[in-house]
Amino acid sequence: MQQLTSWSIFLLSCIGHTELWVMVVNRSHAFPIKCTHLRKFRALHDLAIVIFPWLLLWKCGLNSGGLLTGGSLADQTTFWRITIMITLLAAIPWFLGILRWQWRRRFEFHKVASREVFDVLALARLGKTSGDIRGSRWHPSIVWPWNEVFTLEVNVKSIPTSNPLATSRRPLRVVHLSDMHFIDCPGADYYRFVVKKTVELDADAIVFTGDLIDKPELLETAVEILRPLTKVAPCFFILGNHDWRYDYEYFRSTLAASGWKCVTGSHERIQLADRNVLFAGSELPWIGVAPPSVEHAGVDLRILLSHSPDQFRFAQKSGYDVMLSGHTHGGQVVLPVIGPVYAPSIYGVSFAAGLFHLNKLTLHVSRGIGAKDPLRWRCRPELTCLEIFC
Ligand SMILES: [Fe+2]
Repeated sequence: MQQLTSWSIFLLSCIGHTELWVMVVNRSHAFPIKCTHLRKFRALHDLAIVIFPWLLLWKCGLNSGGLLTGGSLADQTTFWRITIMITLLAAIPWFLGILRWQWRRRFEFHKVASREVFDVLALARLGKTSGDIRGSRWHPSIVWPWNEVFTLEVNVKSIPTSNPLATSRRPLRVVHLSDMHFIDCPGADYYRFVVKKTVELDADAIVFTGDLIDKPELLETAVEILRPLTKVAPCFFILGNHDWRYDYEYFRSTLAASGWKCVTGSHERIQLADRNVLFAGSELPWIGVAPPSVEHAGVDLRILLSHSPDQFRFAQKSGYDVMLSGHTHGGQVVLPVIGPVYAPSIYGVSFAAGLFHLNKLTLHVSRGIGAKDPLRWRCRPELTCLEIFC
């Protein structure tokens, strides 16, 4: 029994220590901090997580009087007693996170009205779509087993609103694209496939919620690929934190010149399917200012595009009905039982992806299309058509 307790303390301490680093890394990526600092911090996090179990084993495990050689917590030095107590406490939010995922968040994460999945790489091999799906950039993640980075999930999701007229007319169809991350992996033809599927969704409006480019040389290609969508429906966009690292005003003006309308810090009213709809945008906390409050705007539907889901309290206070976000990529890796672990948000993985009803506000967080590190596991790239009943 004592052996079991000692091993449990040892394991929970390692889990709690990892959880502490994960919490800090997730929050640090929610703020406008230079990517060089974030990279160094992530390296420190990797090192600390690998070293801690060995250090614990050395100082409080297999040594004389250690936890695994018949000693107890009281036998350890004050420093290690305090360290172990702190890390044991930090294991509590880890367990609560698993419970939250199992009871609620995984249903919000996966909730769709309909779903279609495409293995774009396999389609290209069969000659059913054009060829440059992988792109020329090689990254170690590509060889990861069951990496889903070259797949695409096309989802339709329903959003009810409180408007009593809503049930008597067809829903508004807003296609939500996010986090393209043009970086030459996937290749240009993967994105052309995404655009083809977007066109097939027969949208009333198309929105993009930021992180366009991670390789500025691909801007012209990205704009050439996205331009056809402006012929299909009104297109609105904002930029994200990855664009912020480069000459983002040039990205903005180039995409805007192709017919996409930037709504950051402002709003745009438009008539769509017999309804007055307002689109506004926020690139906070990285770029610009918040859009104005729209509580008394006198429209049928108020939609906020915000790269980060962390702005949802602003959206609630400012009278928006729907907020569309990206940034978190669904965590990119969704572990069995545990769910996603990493998401750059002050709320951790709470809003990693999915549809959330937060009082009067509906928040949709897209898993996005691309990623700087091309690894997705049980977390496919996502193109979503939102059917909004308003
Ligand atoms: Fe992103």
